[in-house]
Amino acid sequence: MTHSIVILAAGEGKRMRSARPKVLADLAGRPLLAHVIDTARTLGPEHIVIVVHGQGGQLIRADFPDSDLAWAEQAERLGTADAVHAALAELPKEGSVLVLYGDVPLLQADTLAPLLDSADRGELAVLTARLDDPFGYGRIVRDEAGAVQKIVEQRDANEAERRIDEVNTGVMAAPVDRLAQWIPRIENDNAQGEYYLTDILALAVADGVKVRTVEAGDAASTAGVNNRAQLADAERELRRRRAASLMEAGVTLVDPGRIDVRGHLECGHDVHIEPNCIFEGRVVLGSGVRVDAGVVIRESWVGDGAHLRAYSVIEHARIGAEAVVGPYARLRPGTELGEASHVGNFVELKNSRLGHGSKANHLAYLGDAEIGDHVNVGAGVITCNYDGANKHKTVIGDDAFIGSDCPLVAPVTIGEGATIGAGSTVTADVPPGKLVLARSRQTTIEGWERPRKTHSDPDKQ
Ligand code: UD1
Ligand code: CA
Repeated sequence: MTHSIVILAAGEGKRMRSARPKVLADLAGRPLLAHVIDTARTLGPEHIVIVVHGQGGQLIRADFPDSDLAWAEQAERLGTADAVHAALAELPKEGSVLVLYGDVPLLQADTLAPLLDSADRGELAVLTARLDDPFGYGRIVRDEAGAVQKIVEQRDANEAERRIDEVNTGVMAAPVDRLAQWIPRIENDNAQGEYYLTDILALAVADGVKVRTVEAGDAASTAGVNNRAQLADAERELRRRRAASLMEAGVTLVDPGRIDVRGHLECGHDVHIEPNCIFEGRVVLGSGVRVDAGVVIRESWVGDGAHLRAYSVIEHARIGAEAVVGPYARLRPGTELGEASHVGNFVELKNSRLGHGSKANHLAYLGDAEIGDHVNVGAGVITCNYDGANKHKTVIGDDAFIGSDCPLVAPVTIGEGATIGAGSTVTADVPPGKLVLARSRQTTIEGWERPRKTHSDPDKQ
C-alpha cells in the first residue's frame, strides 16, 4: 500500500507574534518543522508533501532543500481542509495518507503507525488525547453509545462540548480516494469562517465509513505550539525526554531539569554533568568525563577522563583524555588539546594544537599555533597571529617554557626546550635549548627625587 504524508505548515501563527513563519520557530536548536519531518521520515512513506503559503512559504522551502520533500502552495489560508485540498494535487490517487501539523512537533512514529494501518483497511483514523486542560483544541463528540459523531472546534463548541476532555490532536489518516471525495464537500459556516479538516469526521460517519480513534498514551507528545508559552512547554518536554534517556544510559545529571541538548550528545560510562550546560550539534563525551556548571559545548569531541570546568565555551574542538579545561576557558574552532593538557581561566585558543601535558593556565591567547608536548605557556602570553591583512603561524617546540606576558609575533618558531624570559616581545625565531630575553634591562636611577608640589592646591583650600 502506498503511504503519503501531508504536513500542514501554511498557517500564519498569529499567536506567536513573530515576523517569521511559526513552523521555523526554534525547538531544541532546530525548526519545529524539522522535528515533524524527522518523524514523517521514520514512517518510510513514498511521498511527503508540505503545504505552505506565500512569502513565509519561500522561507520555509529555502530551509529544507531535501529532494525527498514535495511542496504544495495554499493560495489563501482558508483553513486546514483547504490546506489539504492544496496537497491533493501532489498526492498519488491511491493508498493511504497521514496528515500531520507542522506545529505539533513532539509526536513519535510508533504512535502514528497504527493510524496508517487503519487507513489501509479503509477507515478514517484520528489521533486523540485526553487533556487536563483541553482549552483551544477540537473536541471529540460521541453519541450515548460512545460512537464518534464529529469534532467541534473550541470556538464553535457549546458549554457541554467544552467540558469534553477528549481532544483532536490534528493527526488523521484516511484512504486518499475517500479524502479526495470529502474535502470538496466541507463548508465554512463556522465561527472562524474556515474550512475545517475536522469536518471530514462527520462526513465519514454519514458515508458509513468506520471512524477509529487512537488515543495517544502520552498526551504531552500531542501538544501543539501556538504561542511562546507552548513553545517553552515543548522545549521542556524534549529536555525531559533527552535527560531521561541520558540517565537511562548511565549519565549522572545533577539536575535533569537543567540541561539543554540541542543536537546529539553521546556519552561513555560514568559521565557526570552539573546543571545549566548546553550541548549543541554533535558532541561526544568519553567515559568518566566531568562537565561543570554552565559549560556551553558545540560540535566537539572530549576524551576519557577530561574535566571541563565551569563556564567554559567550546566549539569545534578536540579535547584529549584527562585534559582540564577552564573555568572560563574559550576553545574556538580548530582547537586540539593533547592528553592531560591544561587550559585555565581566561585562555582562548583558536585553530591551535596544544601538545600532551602542556599547560596554558591563565590569561593567554593562542591562535594559529602549533605547540608541542610539555610546554609551559605563562600568564599573559599572546600569539600575535594577525598583521592586519594575513594570519601567521607560531610554532613552539616540546618542553619550551614561555615566561609570563610575552607577545609572540608570528610567523615565529621557538625551538625545543627554549626558555623565554617574562615580558619578552619575541619577533625572531628562538634556537632550541637557549634562554632568550627581549626586553629592556631594569635600571635603578641613583639620586632621583620625586617631584614636590610648589603651590598649594586651590581646590583643597
Ligand atoms: C487544529 C484543529 C483542532 C486540533 C488542533 C490540534 C482544525 C480546524 N482544528 O486547531 O481540532 O485540536 O489543531 O493542535 O483543524 N494550516 C494551514 N493552512 C491553513 C490553516 C492552518 O496550513 O489555512 C496549518 C497550520 O500551519 C498548522 C495546522 O494547519 O500547522 C493547524 O492550524 P492551526 O490554525 O494551528 O489550528 P488549531 O486552531 O490549532
Ligand atoms: Ca495549532
